[in-house]
Amino acid sequence: MIRHRYLIVGGGLAGLRAAVELAGQDVAVLARVQPLRSHSVAAAGGINAALGNNPDGADDTPEKHAFDTIKGSDYLADQDAVEIMAREAIDRVIEAEHWGCPFSRFPDGRIAQRPFGGAGFPRTCYAADRTGHALLHTLYEQAVRRGLHAYEEWVALELVVAEGRACGLVAMNLLTGQVEGFVAQAVIFATGGAGRMYLRSSNALLNTGSGMAIAYRAGVPLKDMEFIQFHPTTLYGSNILITEGARGEGGYLLNNKGQRFMERYAAKAMELAPRDIVARAIQTEIDEGRGFQPPPGAQVGSGGGYVHLDLRHLGEAKINERLPKVREISVHIAGVDPVYEPIPIQPAQHYTMGGIDTDNDGATQLPGFFAAGEAACVSVHGANRLGGNSLLDTIVFGRRAGAAARRYVEGLEPAGPAGQEGAVAQVEAAVRSMQEKIAKLLRADGPEDPAALRDRLRSLMSEQVGIFREREPLEQAVAAIADFKERYRHIHLRHRGTRYNLDLYQAVELEGMLDLAEVIARGALLREESRGSQYRRDFPQRDDANWLKHTLAYHTAEGPRFAFKPVTITRYEPQERRY
Ligand code: FUM
Repeated sequence: MIRHRYLIVGGGLAGLRAAVELAGQDVAVLARVQPLRSHSVAAAGGINAALGNNPDGADDTPEKHAFDTIKGSDYLADQDAVEIMAREAIDRVIEAEHWGCPFSRFPDGRIAQRPFGGAGFPRTCYAADRTGHALLHTLYEQAVRRGLHAYEEWVALELVVAEGRACGLVAMNLLTGQVEGFVAQAVIFATGGAGRMYLRSSNALLNTGSGMAIAYRAGVPLKDMEFIQFHPTTLYGSNILITEGARGEGGYLLNNKGQRFMERYAAKAMELAPRDIVARAIQTEIDEGRGFQPPPGAQVGSGGGYVHLDLRHLGEAKINERLPKVREISVHIAGVDPVYEPIPIQPAQHYTMGGIDTDNDGATQLPGFFAAGEAACVSVHGANRLGGNSLLDTIVFGRRAGAAARRYVEGLEPAGPAGQEGAVAQVEAAVRSMQEKIAKLLRADGPEDPAALRDRLRSLMSEQVGIFREREPLEQAVAAIADFKERYRHIHLRHRGTRYNLDLYQAVELEGMLDLAEVIARGALLREESRGSQYRRDFPQRDDANWLKHTLAYHTAEGPRFAFKPVTITRYEPQERRY
């Protein structure tokens, strides 16, 4: 049995920021990969803060940032939470700067800012097109400097609850296959998003929503899971992110007629409209025959055609200075040099707006259990997140979750022997039952191949719970997921060893993915309106009278039970979104 006062699951930006906040307090981070390999590196183009460093945005304020975020969210974000995020953005970015984050600079030395979608002027601070990478290294250095204690290449399997409080975790050491119990007074999940539920995704392979699924099984509700963000510009075929910074720097989108088609969808904001609008516009162009068709023999999964992102007019010097990674990725992966040729792009899943329901301090309905970053839904992104707000969310709410966990633990009765023994007994029992479950999985010899099941699930989500949704395909998806869940009961593993058995772990993960898929598809079916990233062809209007509310999904043996929660409105009354 391993004991820590605080246990953070996830070594990305949110987890590391929480760890920095709790430094010196017997805190440990349990991470599926070495923290520097976390998915936070993938957020390329920048982080929003109303610094007003760019002359074109000199009069920016946290209030303007909050308003843009709320409007971008299609008014589903909780406005008090957004105000906190916009206000604290400035301190967090300056803090990262003082910790050594190598931001790009204006000639006078101040942090450079570029335009991103939904703002209309430059607010997004950046480190070329490697902002997440730069921030992650900075936070990792700060955490190591403060004595970071990390369990690397461990995976969480179960959150343990005793007497109505989170009291620990069951986890597996991937290297040895050993299942181990952790006792903690507070547990923080910063486990990232669920992008790999989709076939076409810009996400790292490890983003399967495992933390969300574990919380859900432990009785913590998931909020607004139907809202899935599709990034407009991912590299055709591989779906590697081509940052919004490329459009922020002046890149534009062209269809197969050479038209800048965004003028028909968002005449003012054009390519810098919010992502839901740009992604739908691109997909519409492709679906209506104005995209480019995949070459014969294209890879399975590349699907659906593409449009062009043209950067040629920016010139080689600017591309090299501001978008070096875009150039590198395009050349090495697609064989296209954006200095001379347009980049083939298509929308792909990018972000999970929903997640573990938390308050503004990362606290969940389960005492002692906190969540932050993409795993959580505070909610600051509502129905559609603005680019540049995800990195911000991680460091603002990672810090707040760490601070709140500390207040919670310091407010506990001194853990007497009885309390500790109760937690230890509960964790020990959970470890034993997980060991039995794993042993059973290793012996299982049913006809179903979990990898094939996972691939079918991903295709289903991309095709039927994607950018455009409608009752019949959603009902078919719900039925198909029920069928997959039944088939999951009859799987076999191809590899039955214990050491670094990814076949085993991916089978465990698949069970959680099936739960999440059910919540997403049922939530999308339930919400009979179009708002932000949820576009229902059969209900194309936003319906504030009936649907200006969050969905909460609770786990039951029969599937999710849905409840609702009001949206917090402070001073921005919902209006029609125009861009
Ligand atoms: O396009 C991008 O650089 C992604 C940033 C984000 O998701 O915030």
